[in-house]
Amino acid sequence: MAMVSVFKNYEELSVFAAEQIISVVQQKPAAVLCLAAGNTPKLTYQKVVALAKERKVDFSAAIFIGLDEWIGIGPTIEGSCYNFLNELLFAPLSIQLNHIHFFDAIENDPETECLRIDNIINVLGGIDLTLVGIGMNGHVGFNEPGFDPNLNAHVVVLDAVTSKVGQKYFKENRELTKGITLGIAQIMASGKVLLLANGKNKAGIIHKTLQENIAVSVPASFIREHPNGLILLDEEAASELP
Ligand code: GLP
Repeated sequence: MAMVSVFKNYEELSVFAAEQIISVVQQKPAAVLCLAAGNTPKLTYQKVVALAKERKVDFSAAIFIGLDEWIGIGPTIEGSCYNFLNELLFAPLSIQLNHIHFFDAIENDPETECLRIDNIINVLGGIDLTLVGIGMNGHVGFNEPGFDPNLNAHVVVLDAVTSKVGQKYFKENRELTKGITLGIAQIMASGKVLLLANGKNKAGIIHKTLQENIAVSVPASFIREHPNGLILLDEEAASELP
């Protein structure tokens, strides 16, 4: 069962999450990391970069797998998952391009992309650490409510909530109708999973995730069953828990 930890604030939560990533890479320099985009882990990644520089932690052998991507939004567009991670992590850590495996649904057929990424994960022997955020509807990556837990990477028609909330990442209005994501099966097969949530607006969905039955209606609830899962919350996100 995953462990739930509540931190005083976003800063403390982010430092803890960053230390987890640093420690996986210190133990296994060629670690395979799958890290979500989104506002939640922003500070975690800034802390990772700062700690890596301060402690001279070598990320040059680490491999990065994309968790998800908006279909139709290219890697150069600010707000795409790739662009987000590139700005916050890959560029500051000088990660080589051939160590980054993201879905490219612009250049390639999305279904083919799913198989390509599945294959890379298999060849690498699985993911060592996955960090996910939680959508306002409980999604993880783009595993939306009602998802099929047996799927590997797949194409998703986005939930209306996700299409609406997703606009926050973009400077101009974007058509966000489809996404491509790793399946929950791949996330659950990771050596370690961190689920992060901060802020008052996540309190309701965190309550559902942790207090109701584990169900496909709340994809994040599956993480509770990860044997090496850490559900990291700040006090605001935990404020509706008993
Ligand atoms: C987005 C992404 C997820 C992310 C989640 C939460 O739509 N597809 O990977 O974790 O929603 O985002 P945020 O951290 O900005 O709340």
